[in-house]
Amino acid sequence: MKPWPYPLWLAHRGAGKLAPENTLAAFRLGAGFGFRAFECDVKLSRDGEAFLLHDDTLERTSSGTGSPAEQDWASLAKLDAGSWHSPAHTAEPLPRFAQIAAFCQANGCALNVEIKPCPGEEARTGATVAREAARHWAGADIAPLLSSFKPEALAAARAAVPALPRALLLDRLWDGWADTAEALGVVAVITNWRCMDRALIEQLHTRGWRALAYTVNDADVAARLLADGIDGIITDAVNRLGPGGSS
Ligand code: G3P
Ligand code: MG
Repeated sequence: MKPWPYPLWLAHRGAGKLAPENTLAAFRLGAGFGFRAFECDVKLSRDGEAFLLHDDTLERTSSGTGSPAEQDWASLAKLDAGSWHSPAHTAEPLPRFAQIAAFCQANGCALNVEIKPCPGEEARTGATVAREAARHWAGADIAPLLSSFKPEALAAARAAVPALPRALLLDRLWDGWADTAEALGVVAVITNWRCMDRALIEQLHTRGWRALAYTVNDADVAARLLADGIDGIITDAVNRLGPGGSS
């Protein structure tokens, strides 16, 4: 297999649950715990700004309401994406993808960009995120790893910027997943940790793909995956696991 440039441990949504997910505050905290690779969720505003948010709607993790795909970035940029988590993070904004790209490069961190389209936005989001990623990381040593649960988004990313590495995300091993991954030209498959075992890791390696698992917050599960030969672990438990943790 080709050399794998990504660190073993990736902090999920910045710093897991210890700071407001998918914000710069979370990335700063994760980096403070020693993480040098992150996962984040990226989607588009109505006017095509790529920014970080997990859900299809704004309510859970911001002061906004409704779908961000129906709002322009000028409105989204005013939202408070920190108060829902804790008073210390009041007024923390939703970050633009460009800001996270700059943070990662300034701090020597790799990024796994999960393309997380709002419903119906799969192709537009995949293409836009890939083009932005190529621009933000031009000349960088380690390219961002683009991943998605949505094959349509990965296909659009591939069409837009074929050279960027891609990974298929799987919450379960649905029929035809391996053929889909092959057709998308992935370098890795990232599954729910419950699906990942030694046999699957060997199957993925035989095809020339790396094996990563999310979201691993239990030290025993992490130890089992490491013994099985996992290539990457995405965790919320940045204070207990990872480069500075016990596993
Ligand atoms: O990319 C791994 C993980 O983030 C996928 O699940 O729902 O946390 O985005 P989710
Ligand atoms: Mg994610």
